[in-house]
Order: sequence, then C-alpha cells, then structure tokens
Amino acid sequence: MSFTRHRRLRSHASLRALVREHAVAIDDLVYPMFVEEDLSGASELPSMPGVHHYGIEAFRREIERLSELGIKGILLFGLPAEKDELSTSAYAEHGIVQEAIRAAKAENPDMVVMTDVCLCQYNPAGHCGLVRDGKIVNDPSLELIAKTALSHAAAGADVVAPSDMMDGRVAKIREMLDDHGYLDVSILSYAVKYASAFYGPFREAANSAPAFGDRKTYQMDPANAREALLEAQSDIEEGADMLMTKPALSYLDVTLRLRQAFHLPIATYNVSAEYSMVKAAARNGWIDERSTVMEMMTSFKRAGADIILTYHAPDVATWIREEQGR
Ligand code: PBG
Repeated sequence: MSFTRHRRLRSHASLRALVREHAVAIDDLVYPMFVEEDLSGASELPSMPGVHHYGIEAFRREIERLSELGIKGILLFGLPAEKDELSTSAYAEHGIVQEAIRAAKAENPDMVVMTDVCLCQYNPAGHCGLVRDGKIVNDPSLELIAKTALSHAAAGADVVAPSDMMDGRVAKIREMLDDHGYLDVSILSYAVKYASAFYGPFREAANSAPAFGDRKTYQMDPANAREALLEAQSDIEEGADMLMTKPALSYLDVTLRLRQAFHLPIATYNVSAEYSMVKAAARNGWIDERSTVMEMMTSFKRAGADIILTYHAPDVATWIREEQGR
C-alpha cells in the first residue's frame, strides 16, 4: 500500500518550526490607540477590556511602554471636546490627534505614527463625510479630509490613513501633501473597507455612531469581493503607498486577492468586535486567549498581510518576546 506520510514533518517541535511557512513578528504590528481631549489619565473601555482612552500624559507613558515592547507603529484616533458640522476639530493645529502626534514623536522619534483620517468623530451627524440634505456628499468632503491629513503631516505624522471611503480622497490628500512639501508622508489607504457590524465597540469607544442612517452608501457591501480589487486599483492610481483591508477575520479571502493582484504592502485591520469577541469568550473560559489570538495573527500573515493593525498588539508582542526568551 502506498500513501504519503504528511505526519513525518510534524513529528517534533523543532522540525515543525523548520518547515513552518508563516510567522508573526513584532515588526508586523501596529497598535490602534484612542486619545481624548480634556481627559486626564486613562479610562478603560467596557466593551474592549485592556483598551483605553488616553489623556495626553497617560498616552505618552503608554508610548514608552509600547516602545519597550518593541512595537514600531501606532494608529491614532481622536476624541475631540467639540463637534461641529464642519468637523473643525479634525484639522485644528492643536487638536487632540495633532498633539498626540507631537507627544509620540517627542517620546520616541522612531515610532511610526499613523493617523486615522476621517470626520465621523468630529461632527454631530457621526458620518465620515459632509452631510447635506440628509445625504453624505462626496466631493465637498474631500477638501476637509485632505485638510485633516495635512494637519497630521504638519504635526509630524509619518503615515496618514484615510478611512472615510469617499471617492477621490487619496488623490486629493496626495495633492495637498505634495503642495505643502510633505513629499515623504505616506498614505495607507483603507482601500477596502466594508460596511461591517464588527465596528460596533469602536463606535461606542470613539463616540462616532451615525446619528441617522448607516454607512452603506460609502462603505462596501460585505458580499462583494471583485469590487475590492476595483477599490484597491483606484487607490493605487491615486497614489496610495499601502493598502488596507478591513475587517480582517471575515475578509481573509479579500486580503489574499489583494495580495495576489498587487505588489504594494498590505495591512489588515483586526477590528474592535473581533477583539471584543475574543476577550468575552476568554473571560468566560471558553477559549484560550493566547493561542486563539496567535492563530488569528498567523491567519492574517498566511492571507498575505504585511502589517497587522490590532488591539492585541501589546499582548502579542509580549508573547513573542516570551517565546524568544527575551
Ligand atoms: C472611522 C473608523 C471606524 C473604524 C476605524 N475608523 C468606524 C466606522 O467606520 O464606523 C473601525 C475600527 C474598529 O472597529 O476597530 N471611519
């Protein structure tokens, strides 16, 4: 009888390590963080245990801790003190995100500071673009989105990441950055962002749930995969340096398709509910948190992601260091 003995190469741990195809490194991780104006200290989010809102001083200390862990990138979200129709706080010179960028760079100039560029946290409608007559209007939103990106670049951001899903925002941001001499600030486009139920805890965290309607006229239909390639293609043509898929877990196929079609670095965003579900199950003793999280991280690498944005980043970094005996 003849058959293949696949188990041969699984017979002991070192052999399994030698033939392993994918690994997660601390270098792959970006930690999303919430900075809140007028907050002193840090407050933990009930729906996302271990994730906090930070006042600026607590944020600086957290940057110190992340740096010690070897984490090389953060993604910033702001919670402003004031919201208005024009999302003024989004592009204020001394807005909360702008101040956090300066604080992070002062604490660790080597930290890659990425910023989420969007309007939804900054206007009362809670939409990612400007609202006129109950509609989210595309072209008039671009100027404000680009202004927001410019203000982040001026404060010292390395990477701006537009998440609004307006058409043409990458082109507009690139033009605005170049016109002001920020030739080296790169754009990580949330190219493929689905209208997902997995953003629930984030919207609570960022106080950015839409006041009316939903985001389905600008974020993508979860049923569509070919459309992801069209979105990504447009963003590449407009000047994106890196692409993102979001959410991560339910969209591994989309990450793989992008990997196969394009050669830009690809990031995937392991979003809030993906985190909260793991935390909830782990707290109930239903899953083993560490091995579950590492399996998820590995799946993102296997699907072709270069960069993983995840709220688990500090834990993952800690576990990787433990494994390596550091
Ligand atoms: C803002 C934005 C959202 C997320 C990142 N940027 C929420 C949304 O689009 O409703 C989600 C992140 C997460 O769930 O962790 N446009």
